[in-house]
Amino acid sequence: MNYTTGTGDLQNWLVSEDGFRPEWLGKGETVFSLGNGYMGLRSVTEEHYANETRNLFVAGTFNKFAANEVTELPNAADVLWMEFKLNGVRFDLTQGKIHAYRRTLNLKQAELIREVTWESPNGDVFELVFKRFVSMANLHSIAQRVSITPKQQTVLTLTSGINGQTTNSGVQHFLEGDKRLYDGRFMQQIQTTTESGIDFAFHSVHHFMLNETIEPKSIIKMDRRKIFFDYSDMIIPQDETLTIEKYSTIFTSRDKELTVETTEELANHALNVTKEIEAMGYDRLLEEHIQTWNELVWEHAPIAIESNAMFDQLAIRFAQYHLAVMTPKHDNRMNVGAKGLSGEGYKGHTFWDTEIFILPYYTYTNPKIARSLLEYRYQSLSGAHRKAKENGYEGAMFPWESAWLDDGEVTPIWGAADIVTGEATKIWSGFIEQHITSDIAFAAWQYYHVTGDQDFMDRYGYELLIDTAKFWASRLEWDEETKRYEINEVVGPDEYKEHVDNNAFTNYTAHWNINKAIEYVELLRTDKPELFEQLNDKLDLETADERFRHVLDLIYLPQVREDGVLPQDDTYLQKEIIDLTKYKNQENVGSLFLDYNLEQVNEIQVSKQADVMILMYLLEDLFSADVKRANWNYYEPKTLHDSSLSLSTHSVLASDLGDQELAYDLFRRASEIDLGPNMKTSDAGIHAASLGGIWQAVVNGFGGVRMAGGKLRISPMLPKAWTSLTFSIDWQGETLDVKATQEKVTITRRQPTDDAVTIEVYGEERLIVDAFTSEVLSV
Ligand code: BGC
Repeated sequence: MNYTTGTGDLQNWLVSEDGFRPEWLGKGETVFSLGNGYMGLRSVTEEHYANETRNLFVAGTFNKFAANEVTELPNAADVLWMEFKLNGVRFDLTQGKIHAYRRTLNLKQAELIREVTWESPNGDVFELVFKRFVSMANLHSIAQRVSITPKQQTVLTLTSGINGQTTNSGVQHFLEGDKRLYDGRFMQQIQTTTESGIDFAFHSVHHFMLNETIEPKSIIKMDRRKIFFDYSDMIIPQDETLTIEKYSTIFTSRDKELTVETTEELANHALNVTKEIEAMGYDRLLEEHIQTWNELVWEHAPIAIESNAMFDQLAIRFAQYHLAVMTPKHDNRMNVGAKGLSGEGYKGHTFWDTEIFILPYYTYTNPKIARSLLEYRYQSLSGAHRKAKENGYEGAMFPWESAWLDDGEVTPIWGAADIVTGEATKIWSGFIEQHITSDIAFAAWQYYHVTGDQDFMDRYGYELLIDTAKFWASRLEWDEETKRYEINEVVGPDEYKEHVDNNAFTNYTAHWNINKAIEYVELLRTDKPELFEQLNDKLDLETADERFRHVLDLIYLPQVREDGVLPQDDTYLQKEIIDLTKYKNQENVGSLFLDYNLEQVNEIQVSKQADVMILMYLLEDLFSADVKRANWNYYEPKTLHDSSLSLSTHSVLASDLGDQELAYDLFRRASEIDLGPNMKTSDAGIHAASLGGIWQAVVNGFGGVRMAGGKLRISPMLPKAWTSLTFSIDWQGETLDVKATQEKVTITRRQPTDDAVTIEVYGEERLIVDAFTSEVLSV
């Protein structure tokens, strides 16, 4: 990957690859993937190659293939596909010679451009330029433009259309549907998912130009789940350019904004939109698309890093780019997948990745989107209630993995090979990784305090916080011997420790959840009697409150030892310590499993990811700086960062502890998970949570932004490599512009009012009317 191709206005906006390597297709497919939150398109090439993964996902369109499988996002029809024959030879970069090659993702305008000079095996030379984007302005549209300039007169044939023979690793989620050609040009394919019954309407149309619009000789063809044109006998004179544009649209019966009732109405609507976008043409569509990107992302929440390393600015833009591509902001019945919409990994499911890693970005920069993502959780309460009931508990027990609103738990049961037994390893997370419930409660609370969105609290927030607390109150186990409530038999954030008792993260956040519920029941009782009554009817607040108060102080909270270490669970600290150097220096994550199986790993003091450390980040006020440092020193050397969620958390904590250089090193390593030189890390899709974590490493870490106890703190400390960091955050309905340098910080209110805003800056509370600049820091 090349990060330095952007110059002038495009400096730090371009990510490029300078060579075509068929063995590394997955990297570019993911890193360059396009999308708009409605759909995500993996960046395969127009022409086919072995080992490619052609994916188009539409958010929220889950389907379950068979009873013994879990629901997943189906891989929709391939509309990008185009096969070219140039003077009788198939355009194929594994054949002939490549004289020049560059593929570039322009983050600013969310457009992918591939430029190739290719010599075919019979010696003909061609310049080809491929451009495409997935419109952010018109969520259903994909536009492609291919320009071919031959160095000798050329006869071109082209096969191009809609190919619904795509699968999710062999699983076909669609029934054979209807195919039809309209007006001799507009291809239509309608397909329905096998179990969820969602109709998809795909349309494509081509447009050819050789100085002026031309109509090549064509034959329409159909095959199973496939409709396409064979275009032939297109003659391109030497050094002239033939331009082919392909416009495609995707609509589904899950589209919320559509008022259509039947499949036929859906198809008609989609056909009309396809005609409209074709009439607009590539350039106008692109212009609208760029403008929407600017409004939504680049002008809305800009971050400027002046650094001696160009990569840093690009890395944060890359994170913001992909967060926008993957987040279904248009529909509150949908959420973000752990691989966004860029790959089959994790089946499109939503994890705690959203609330703890991604949501803060939106909470602090685009509360509307944050609220929509939280509303998804609220609307999926029925599945959470079902899960609680099935397990003999009360309240809302959120699924570890979520898909459609009422699906409930969708974590698969069997995973990777166990190298010792030769069987598949059982995935316990869906059964016993329960901290997701308090993670959601925490995120709702954080959202409320950062945004001040009382309407959210009244409609959803209080209920979420109390319903989740009800789960915990019923989940606790009384231990007669110690006379305390424990939480046994769980997986904490560190998934290398299964079936543990009293995981500190789980117990502390459950305690926090119940404590908040007590506070809010009291508040409702005294300040909002009507809402209290409403929720009392739903949740039986009186009984719940009694239980909350009874259990709260009896919940066992693992205590910090004399040496400052907080036991991760009841047994972690007694487990064997081994030399982890080899695994700490691994090239590919998970190398531990080449030597041990999960059962053996369970008995070693080794962690997959931040566990105690993330507790100390979220509930930071409970732990002193010395305790945080002691735990860092104990646990970090035992943490392999085998989950992409780990490095960014450690970076924020290193910033909190005042070690900016270590924080910077971790920020760089987090940024390299997708953007770095390892060409295999992103094959299954982008690391969504890590990208949210990169934003946190910058704004919550170096920017020193934190909401603690309902109050705002902004105390930036920059790494040496940075001269300045500029960003904006939303705080309780207003925007604050922050500019930090090595010496000082300036905070400016964009919409100042007479009411000063209180912000803690470097340990002192400041009342800010319109702007504030700190004293020069002594560094
Ligand atoms: C991590 C989880 C995470 C999941 C999805 C796992 O490898 O251990 O914490 O939620 O991936 O990203």
